[in-house]
Amino acid sequence: MVAHTSGSPVKVARATPSAFDFRVWIEKARAIGQLREVENADPHLELGAITELNAKRRGPALLFGGFPGYHPGFRVLTGAMLNVRTLGLTMGIEENLDTMALTGRIGEKLRLIESKTADYPIEYVGDGPVMENKVAAEDIDLTIFPAPMWHELDGGPYIGTGCVHIHKDPETGWTNVGTYRVQRQSKNTVGTFISGGHHGNIIRQKYWDKNEPCPVVIVFGSHPLFLVMGGSEVPTGVDEFAWIGAIAGQRVPVIRGPITGLPIPADAEIAIEGFSSQGDLQEEGPFGEFTGYYAGGRKPETLVRVKAVYYRNDPILLGAPPCRPLHDYSYFASVLRSALVKESLRKAGIPGVKGVWVSEAGGNRLWVVTSIQQQYAGHAAQAANVAVQCRAGALMNRYSIVVDDDIDPSNSDDVIWALSTRSDPATDIDILRQCWSNPLDPMIPPAEKDRKRLWNSRAIINACRPWDRVQAKDFPPVAEATPTLLEATKKKWAWLFK
Ligand SMILES: Cc1cc2nc3c(=O)[nH]c(=O)nc-3n(C[C@H](O)[C@H](O)[C@H](O)COP(=O)(O)O)c2cc1C
Repeated sequence: MVAHTSGSPVKVARATPSAFDFRVWIEKARAIGQLREVENADPHLELGAITELNAKRRGPALLFGGFPGYHPGFRVLTGAMLNVRTLGLTMGIEENLDTMALTGRIGEKLRLIESKTADYPIEYVGDGPVMENKVAAEDIDLTIFPAPMWHELDGGPYIGTGCVHIHKDPETGWTNVGTYRVQRQSKNTVGTFISGGHHGNIIRQKYWDKNEPCPVVIVFGSHPLFLVMGGSEVPTGVDEFAWIGAIAGQRVPVIRGPITGLPIPADAEIAIEGFSSQGDLQEEGPFGEFTGYYAGGRKPETLVRVKAVYYRNDPILLGAPPCRPLHDYSYFASVLRSALVKESLRKAGIPGVKGVWVSEAGGNRLWVVTSIQQQYAGHAAQAANVAVQCRAGALMNRYSIVVDDDIDPSNSDDVIWALSTRSDPATDIDILRQCWSNPLDPMIPPAEKDRKRLWNSRAIINACRPWDRVQAKDFPPVAEATPTLLEATKKKWAWLFK
């Protein structure tokens, strides 16, 4: 048994109960039948395998506890947002919608709150549940937490999957919240992988350029809304904490980190403060990744040297391990990215966009389908190009397909039908080269990765009816009953279609 120092509960004077308490979210999930508790699963591979099986069936959230060899109260939650109900719960949209309707509602919500974020700056508080246990200096021991070994070929336990990193830009003072994986390397060091172009990477380089270590807070368990925003391409310069506050309708309470000065969410389950320095590296990986491969391999990555650990009594680690899709975070990441790409198209002035779907099977990045109501020559190509070059859609995409508005972009049968019958491979596929990719791309050979040739090509596929033929009205009509006939038939023959 690992020793666990339980601190005394902290009394926090709050006018209203916090909207960011993970345990309140868990009770709500339980109330809607979306929580199962699992005792005695082994954090070494078994927990990961259960999580993988649960993701394939888009199951409920799983709260694991009672790990042999760990303090009995220490827990891990996975499957936080595998379906409409739990993602809706996180986003404050609790009606029973289908996925495209939920995607539309989330897009609308993000658009509406964008102008309101100024009303939701973080709120500094003196204390909070995360400070129930404080450990510093040589007492730090990250091995007390049941960090799972998620996949058989992983290079070690990953304490951070459903985590968020908090960095502050030293030039602008902007705070970024980003999700980047974290391998536990020792009692007081963790390894990170932050892809080139991601804000955590850009910000830490600014400190390193001044020969300074980069301060960071990493939160390993929190209300899943932090993970949603940390793992989504919120536009540069937008304060993610303010977005989180605006979505929840409450400012995020934070405690000023005693060591880094960075904001620590007061309701976090587990948080660390630490520093990363340029050239302070250790082998990281391999790790089962969201593309469905161990493509990043094992290589030296930046360490974070942990200076303090804070955690609630009986802390709950939030896990979100990827693997061959469908995986633990593919659903929420596809919904969010689809909503954000659609919003980017709107902001870029592309009219007539009916829907966007970034496929889960494509690792929620590599395959995007945009449906449009064609309005002019070139409209389809314009939409498809913006969808894969806007910030939300650019990284690692490989196929951008544009279809007419009678096609549901999230329905593979619809999309394959459009591709098969409305596109001519010789004329309707264009290739973009040297686009934004990263070391996790399984199609970039290791030698190219070593040479930092971290780019890929992508196909722009126009699977809309050819615009000139739409104008000429010579494209054949679709062979299906009209909606009016179908409705009338369903009504008359209701017993047959129950
Ligand atoms: C569960 C999860 C794990 C992720 N892991 C990583 C990672 O290890 N490294 C990385 O660079 N991006 C990772 N991402 C993607 C980034 O979090 C995402 O692109 C985010 O928008 C980056 O934020 P930023 O643009 O502010 O840097 C992950 C996303 C999720 C949802």
